[in-house]
This record gives sequence, C-alpha cells and structure tokens, in this order.
Amino acid sequence: MCGIVGYVGKKQSVEVLLEALSRLEYRGYDSAGVAVLNGKGVEIRRKAGKLQGLMESIHKKPVNGHIGIGHTRWATHGEPSERNSHPHTSESGSIAIVHNGIIENYAELKEKLLAKGYKFKSQTDTEIVVHLIAEHAKKLSIEEAFRKTLTQLRGSYAICLVSKDEPDRLYAARFGSPLLVGIGKGEGFFASDAPAILGLTREVMYLNDGDFVVLTASDVKVSTVAGKAVKRKITSIDWDLSAARKDGYDHYMLKEIHEQPAAIEQTLFNRLDLDKNEITFDAKTKKFLNNLSKQERVIIISCGTAYHAGLVGEYMLEEYAHMPVDVDLASEFRYRGPMLDKNTTIIAITQSGETADTLAGIRMAKKHGSKVLAICNVMGSSIAREADAVIYTHAGPEIAVASTKAYTAQVTALILLTLYLTKQRKLVTATKWKSLLKGLHELPKTVEKALATEADVKTLSAKYASLRNFYYLGRRYNFPSALEGALKLKEVCPLIHAEGYAAGEMKHGPISLIHMGWPVVFVATDSPVYEKVVSNIQEVRARRGECIVVASEGNEEIRKNVDSLIHVPKTEELFSPIVVAVPLQFFAYYVACANQCDVDQPPNLAKSVTVE
Ligand code: AGP
Repeated sequence: MCGIVGYVGKKQSVEVLLEALSRLEYRGYDSAGVAVLNGKGVEIRRKAGKLQGLMESIHKKPVNGHIGIGHTRWATHGEPSERNSHPHTSESGSIAIVHNGIIENYAELKEKLLAKGYKFKSQTDTEIVVHLIAEHAKKLSIEEAFRKTLTQLRGSYAICLVSKDEPDRLYAARFGSPLLVGIGKGEGFFASDAPAILGLTREVMYLNDGDFVVLTASDVKVSTVAGKAVKRKITSIDWDLSAARKDGYDHYMLKEIHEQPAAIEQTLFNRLDLDKNEITFDAKTKKFLNNLSKQERVIIISCGTAYHAGLVGEYMLEEYAHMPVDVDLASEFRYRGPMLDKNTTIIAITQSGETADTLAGIRMAKKHGSKVLAICNVMGSSIAREADAVIYTHAGPEIAVASTKAYTAQVTALILLTLYLTKQRKLVTATKWKSLLKGLHELPKTVEKALATEADVKTLSAKYASLRNFYYLGRRYNFPSALEGALKLKEVCPLIHAEGYAAGEMKHGPISLIHMGWPVVFVATDSPVYEKVVSNIQEVRARRGECIVVASEGNEEIRKNVDSLIHVPKTEELFSPIVVAVPLQFFAYYVACANQCDVDQPPNLAKSVTVE
C-alpha cells in the first residue's frame, strides 16, 4: 500500500527519499512524489507510474535541500495520475503533506472547505487535510494547526508534513496506519515501514495510534495530539539489508520461495527442543497458553493468504488439541457481531502486522474481553504490539507482494501452537509425540526436497501458461492449499482466473464448467481422504478436464489418472500443506513469468493492506 518517507539532516534529502522509496516499491504503488525545502520554498516533484520515472525527471533537473518528504501512492480516492499523487500542497504552496490511509469524513470536510472558497487540484481525500491545516494556520502555528486538523479527521492516517515556514523540522502523526521514526547521527527519518530506512539507520521508534511527532536533525518529540508528552522506546532492527535484496534471483518471489527451509527453521528455532522432547515458547506466550480454559473457544482472524493459513490451523487445532475453532475473514468478523467473551481467544495471523481489518478485529475482540494471540512476522508492528502474546514467525522480510515464505512460516507456527496445546492437554501418546517432533524437526529438509520440484514445475508451467481459467481442488488439510494455490496464481498472473474449492464441492456447481482441456490442479497427497480425491479426479477426467496432480512421493499408481504429475515428499498430513505449497508457488511464479507479468508487484495489489 502507500509508502511514506521523510528526512531531515545534512544529506541531499531527495537522494535519501528516493533510496528509501525504492525500498518500499515492493508494497505496490501506482505513482510517486517528493517535496523538498529548497531554500526558497517547497519544491514538489511527482509522477504517475513507477518510481524510475520520478528518478529520471529528478536526475534531469535536480532538487536541492536537506529536508523533505516522499510518498508512493496506491490509489484509493481518484485514479492513479500525477495530480492525484502525493505530496499535496496548500494553496500558497508553503505546506506539503503525504498521507497513508483513508479520511472517511473527507466529503463532509471538503464541502466546508469548498464553501470557504478553497479550490481542489486533486480527487484525493488527502488534499482536504492540507487545506484544513492551512486554514487553521491563519490563526495558529503550523504545529497547532496540524494538531487541530487531526481532531477533525475520521478514518485512518499516517501523515508527514513539511512547511516552508519551519525549515528545520518535519511533523508527523499516526492513527491506524503504520509509521515509525528512524534515528541517525545528526539526522532523522520517517518511514511507514522499516525496510525503507534499513541501511540508513537501525535505530527506530515505532509510533502508536494517536502519536504526534516533531522531528529535527537532533531531536524527536512525541506527544498525543492534545499535546501531552509521551515516551516511545527506541529499538534496534536486527535484520540485515541483504535480506531485503534479490541476491541474484530474478524476482523476490522466487528468492522467497527458496528461503522457505530457512524461514521454517527460524520459526522452529528455540521452540522445538528435540533433546528435551518438548515444544516451548517465550515466557509470556507460555503463560498466555497455560491460562487458556478447558472450554476455550478459538476464533482465527486474518486476510488473504494468512486466512488460508488460519484454515489449516482449524484442522489441526480441532484434530489434535480438541479445541473448537472458527476461522473468519477479518473483514467479515469485525462487522458481523460475533459472540465474544473472556473464554474466547482470538488468533490473529498476519505477515505485516498492519492489515487494517485484522487490526480492527483484534481491537473489537479486546473490547469484549477476549484474549488475543498474534502470529506475526514483523516485529514491533501494530498487531504484534496490541496482542496479549505473539508468536513471531521470524521468516525475515517478505518483499514480494505474493506471500510465500510467510505463509509456510505461519503454518509452522500453527503446528507449534497445536502441538504445544495437544501435549498440555495430554491428548497424544509418547510414540506419536516423538514421531511428530521428529517430522517437525525434519520439516526444513523436507521443504528443501520439495524445492527440487522446480525444474519439473517450470516445464509444466510452460505447457499450461496460455490457459486462462484454472480450478484448484483439495480436501481436509489441503482444501486451504487449493485456495492458496489459486490465490497465488491469480495474484501474480492477473491474466488468469483461478478458483480453489473443496474437492467434494465440485459436483455442487463448479463441475458445470469442466470441458475438454479445462485445467484442474488437484492436491492428492496421502491422507485419510486420498481415495475420495481420486474419485474427484475421475469425475473431472470423465468430462475430459486436464488433471494436474500433486501427489506423495512413491505414489506411482496415480499416474494412470493424471495428465501431469508432481511428486512431493511424504509427510504427516498436518505438515503436508507446507510441502504442497512449494510446487503451487512455483507453478504460479513460472506461469506468470511465461506471461510476462510483473511478478513482484502485480497491478492493483499492495503488500500491506492498511486501509479497509
Ligand atoms: C498474499 O499473497 C497476499 N498478498 C494477501 O492476501 C495477504 O496475505 C493479506 O493481505 C494479508 O496480509 P497480512 O498477512 O500482512 O495481514
């Protein structure tokens, strides 16, 4: 989604801003811009399209100055165009702002500003904010005018402001959209996401909703919007810039697919202890889990790929830990009036920790007295901070819009959680426990073996790349795999429509479309319903559909029922969604490459969805 950066210091701010913005490109955007104080006033440069265009125009005509703000925009109000790009300026041009989020009462505020004679240059909700600030600044200081404006806004925002009249400082505020402060030696940064300023500084201060910041090259002052000073901790980012680079891969997505064994290893690290024959968590998470009641009800909330991980979690928590689990799309959960109480635990699954619907869902649940456990990848993110306990996936930064390693790390975290609760509730025999821990310990290696499917899947992808509709079918633990496989394909290859279904649902509708050559990807790995999946394959073949089947290694018998076959390593069924994910990710990736799609930044998609 939109990216925000800000800089104050001794360097040429435009260089810092463009470098930082380029590190936010992965979030998905459709235009970019900067505002720099050039000694005379606020100089604005904006361009629709990729950041490269903006860089080239700045290269031809440089902008000089040591303080500025920048933005990559993902359109919400108004088409992607230069005039709708941020920064937006006051009518006099002396104040510029960049904004992430959505101002929900913008229409009402705009009416009032129009009545006062303000002229709007863009179709954005953001422009009303800068005009309101300018209006209040007729009587107040910039800082007071900004604060007053914030009290009038409804919705979500992270806003950075630069003003010609205050050339040594930047202002910023956050409510519902992520924002952090970077602290350097004699310089300061704002960023919506830590990777933006990696390499510039490692010291960051994550802001809370309601925070207002005044940033100079030598000082950071955080207060509430009302002006009460607050303290925010400075934390050190402990991951490396190289983790946010492609390292010789053509795309981040491919790199991240290959990083899955390491990511899973990281998720298991310090939690799976084979010597002690146990699964453990940090003290806070253990306390949280040990306090769950016998009657505890679990609701998993999440969006997109994380929702699919949640569905896998439902199967395992019910089967192994005997807990009643519902899985909800966070965007539905928050508006359907769910029955919540203190015996309900919400598990919020999220890579970014900033997804607006998931964040709103946990806030609502907490108001009703429910407890919140987050499974999250980004340390210090909003959801991680607001949850009662967090199981970090430690998958490292995920840059590609399409989630791969974060998904398999989420499922790994759910396995750890399930097994911990299963043992705690004495629901597993010693022999089964041992074999489960062994399988879990071997999981990174098993996934390494699954990566060996790449060459075959690439060949297969070439065969199917020209088709435009795909079904994905699976049952039990691999019903979510079917949903995830289909999501991956349509995400990275927007020319293709792909739909995932529970294989047993086929005959209740979707089968009507099957005709000669219609491709159906089946997950038919070993499971108690394997034979039922084979029956579903037969139903498709009877209608001359094209069956692309993922089956367990050693299953040669299935060859006679398939058009294309991918073998994956054998595993316990609860580990299988992780292993199956790998060839499905490769398939989506190579089909998208064959169709020349922008794999890492598919159109219309954003990495972190911080608006509703
Ligand atoms: C995954 O490929 C998608 N980009 C998307 O569905 C994503 O999983 C969803 O937006 C949730 O994001 P989160 O995990 O950061 O909350």
